[in-house]
Amino acid sequence: MSKILVTGGTGYIGSHTLVDLIESGFEVISIDNYINSDAKPLESIKEITGKEVKNYVVDLCDEEALHDVFKENTDISGIIHFAALKSVGDSVADPVLYFRNNVVGLINLIECTLKYKIENFIFSSSCTVYGNTETLPVTESTPEQEAESPYGRTKQIGEKMLKDAFNNSQTKCIALRYFNPAGAHKSNKLGESPVNKALNLVPVVTETAIGKRDNMTVFGNDYDTRDGSCIRDYIHVMDLADAHTKAIKFLLDKKQSENFDTYNLGIGNGVSVLEAINAFEKVSGQKLNYTLGKRREGDVIAIYADYNKAKSNLNWTPQYGIEDIMDTAWRWEQARSK
Ligand code: WQD
Repeated sequence: MSKILVTGGTGYIGSHTLVDLIESGFEVISIDNYINSDAKPLESIKEITGKEVKNYVVDLCDEEALHDVFKENTDISGIIHFAALKSVGDSVADPVLYFRNNVVGLINLIECTLKYKIENFIFSSSCTVYGNTETLPVTESTPEQEAESPYGRTKQIGEKMLKDAFNNSQTKCIALRYFNPAGAHKSNKLGESPVNKALNLVPVVTETAIGKRDNMTVFGNDYDTRDGSCIRDYIHVMDLADAHTKAIKFLLDKKQSENFDTYNLGIGNGVSVLEAINAFEKVSGQKLNYTLGKRREGDVIAIYADYNKAKSNLNWTPQYGIEDIMDTAWRWEQARSK
């Protein structure tokens, strides 16, 4: 049974991926210092899978503590690296925090990967590496534009460091470029639990619907789109978790020849903000209290993925759409608000 080290294992996508890895027969350990999470997801993972996941409360910027994890676990077959800060707005407010946490942490992890000869590495990347692109849908060879935020820049730098560091090494690496992750586990026991105030659309919708917020604002309905609101590619977190398991299997099965490669993880459907809200109202049976407001700085008008490379190489096909996202997110919001 291969042992996989998941960094950021108590985070939103990390915790869902731990469940999928366990259910696929992998042994797992986690590193997470709870900078943007807590230990609760570990209890949920135990409830869902019956397995205790050992989490090392270690900051990836603490080199000595990180090396100790690798000295204690000499049988790691692969690493899936989620641990990073990911708020676009926060990164604009404090770029140096983002460079230290996301880039220095990655450098330390790369050094451990090479020193302890870990042969398989999955990097949590993002569609923000494309910046404000005109060509849609986006493919992996769509040229990158200037990153829209320090957060996006840490993902661009991260991919380039991994490509250079693993070149001519024994390590094979895949960068998975997420579009808009959303939704919750079908068990209602795991979901997005932002430690700080939610900023992303789907948790803002469910917090408004349950009454944690009086209302929400649609950031602009005067864009050049079919209904004037921005278009995104919302991907269910369970589809994302499945893609990570398939990607690590792809590497473990020695199917990748290059040292570094990238895959888009979106479902290829562009959904507008107003369409997402309509989907919520349909699955929840309740009207949402929102107002049409002005545009949010930094928003791209539209972005959605071509995921055919993941479909053909990783044998990955997304199973869920925006209504499943809203349905699971709404049930999770109700469960966690009890
Ligand atoms: C989606 C749409 C908003 C809140 C971010 C990161 C990206 C990735 C996914 C990690 C936009 C609109 C939102 C609200 C609104 N994260 N909106 N009212 O900005 O597309 O992407 O999350 O990889 O890196 O940038 O996500 O959910 O904030 O916004 O109208 O209260 O919803 O304007 O059009 P975004 P989002």
